[in-house]
Amino acid sequence: MKKIMVMPGDGIGPEIVNETIKILDYMISKYNLEIGYEYGDIGGIAIDKYGIPVKDETIEKCKNSNAVLLGAVGGPKWDTTLPGKPRPEDALLKVRKELGLFANLRPVKIYKPLVSSSTLKEEVLTGVNILVLRELTGGIYFGERKRLSDEKGEYAYDTEKYYTYEIERIARLGFKTARMRSKKITSVDKANILESSRLWREVVNKIHKEYDDIELNHMYVDNTSMQLIRNPKQFDVILTSNMFGDILSDETAMISGSIGLLPSASLREDSLGMYEPIHGSAPDIQGQGKANPIAQILSLAMLLRYSLDLGLQADFIEKAVDVVLEKGYRTADIYDSKNKLVSTSEMGNLILDEIKTLCLDD
Ligand code: IPM
Ligand code: MG
Repeated sequence: MKKIMVMPGDGIGPEIVNETIKILDYMISKYNLEIGYEYGDIGGIAIDKYGIPVKDETIEKCKNSNAVLLGAVGGPKWDTTLPGKPRPEDALLKVRKELGLFANLRPVKIYKPLVSSSTLKEEVLTGVNILVLRELTGGIYFGERKRLSDEKGEYAYDTEKYYTYEIERIARLGFKTARMRSKKITSVDKANILESSRLWREVVNKIHKEYDDIELNHMYVDNTSMQLIRNPKQFDVILTSNMFGDILSDETAMISGSIGLLPSASLREDSLGMYEPIHGSAPDIQGQGKANPIAQILSLAMLLRYSLDLGLQADFIEKAVDVVLEKGYRTADIYDSKNKLVSTSEMGNLILDEIKTLCLDD
């Protein structure tokens, strides 16, 4: 029996996870899959219930699962700058770290029927296919940080620190991934200023020798953020650090028209992975049926493919999303007057119906 730990989290998390579970349930019964799942609390909801953003017991359950499906965490209710106060986001970092999920895959796909909802021109977008590979358990998000004061007053610092082995393993995965795509990779850093970036570049060059069939180029992060808008087609795999990947993947998400569409996978060497939308918990639209469940549903597809080896079922989900968008159904984030506006659960049901049709033909 394979096990999935489901953690809806906060804001729109529970609504979009709900739609996704309908699809999982259908797949389990249609294909007699030996998959069980269990729910856990993470983020603000866990702070409310237990005073901490994630319980050790929940992390243990994740470790003993084959995959984790996560919604989103955070909201104004738990926003605090008070030192020592728990934040929902801490839970996310903790789970990533404790599970050792060092690689975050953020694929960016352009959906033809949605080209008009991007702020970029059609000719700039057509043909874009990018995978942001973000290092996820190192760098400044995990380095030492402190708030202190001296004679000049109060100050604070965070530390960007990378070990060679951390760069090596993400670089290897980057080259391997590039091999399965167009054999091109761009490593993004700030090596003109940062020592940690200089090490990053050195190590990436060293690992490149093992993969010399892959075309590697290096680019500074400031230039990359400009090039992504100017000519995104020049990129295929973007390999980068935790913070730069966080920032650049929001930018690439907007290239696709809406951040509500993009799933992500956080992986390590074995098949355990955590799957979540790139977007956040969007508390402003919580409970109004406005949330787009597609990124969450596509995260389930990635989960089935990467952690449970169920590529066929993953294909059906992805295909169903394509069909529903082609038919002109849109949640509010991607709606324009030429299309049909639907709610979160209507979108979920439409995708489920398409999946059922695809599975019947199978
Ligand atoms: C993301 C998010 C998280 C991150 C936050 C919520 C901690 O922005 O997954 O990109 O910074 O990693
Ligand atoms: Mg982010």
